[in-house]
Amino acid sequence: MTAKYDALNAERISAAIQQFSKENLQSPYTSKISCFETIDSTNTWLLKNGKHGDFCLSETQTAGRGRRENQWVSPQSGNIYLSFCCYFDSNIQQRSLLGLIAGIAVAEALQDIGLTGHGLKWPNDIFWKDKKLGGILIQTAENYEKFVIGIGLNVSLPKESRVKITQQAVSLEEALQAKAFDRETVVIKLLQRLLLHAEMFADLSFQAFTQSWQRWDILHHREVGFQHQNQEITGRVDGIDEHGRIGILLESGIEYFSAADIKLKKPTQT
Ligand code: BTN
Repeated sequence: MTAKYDALNAERISAAIQQFSKENLQSPYTSKISCFETIDSTNTWLLKNGKHGDFCLSETQTAGRGRRENQWVSPQSGNIYLSFCCYFDSNIQQRSLLGLIAGIAVAEALQDIGLTGHGLKWPNDIFWKDKKLGGILIQTAENYEKFVIGIGLNVSLPKESRVKITQQAVSLEEALQAKAFDRETVVIKLLQRLLLHAEMFADLSFQAFTQSWQRWDILHHREVGFQHQNQEITGRVDGIDEHGRIGILLESGIEYFSAADIKLKKPTQT
């Protein structure tokens, strides 16, 4: 079987990113971009080898990691498996917003390539029409100063992978509805948006964050349900606080939760 997508070319991506950094960043990163044919996990690789601003990509992962100790199904089908390494001072207050900001970066990159109808499901799932298009896993090391942001984006989902995924998934091929796209351009846009947000992150105000978040939040004011300490909680989503926790309007008032596997009560009308 011939591969549908050409392998990513680290040199071409690197040249595009260097030029972008020079033209758009105040203090350009010297990002090293490593592209592998196969690897255990791009996150694990950067946790060991990454310096500030470095990226790691792979065509497939043998031990792709998802949130909540889940496996991230990583076939060699053109999907994007990408990680970004950055260091932030331990006294930056907005560190707990990093995962949400990474989601905003991905949503903007997808908009750059012409996708519409996508958004973010708290904390940082990328959704298209109530189906999962991608996910983000943040890992930390070195006393919580080193961060690795891992992004998995479904570009093409073979049948045999779909059956291994426990929730409803969608691919970029489906979401773009036959609109042509270039996978390398998708990667370059993702890297650019990540670099821009990483540069702005240290000076990010909560107000600026809230504005961007609301632009992409698919749960805004919607009825949701989730398990919390062996209880089923249901309520209406009501914003995010400074710690990145989700606000749920309950009969007793708003309560904030830092971790939950949120389920929508009613699907989006399309
Ligand atoms: C989730 O569970 O939604 C998060 C999935 C994150 C997957 C990506 S793929 C690239 C990077 N390497 C990994 O092992 N995981 C992340």
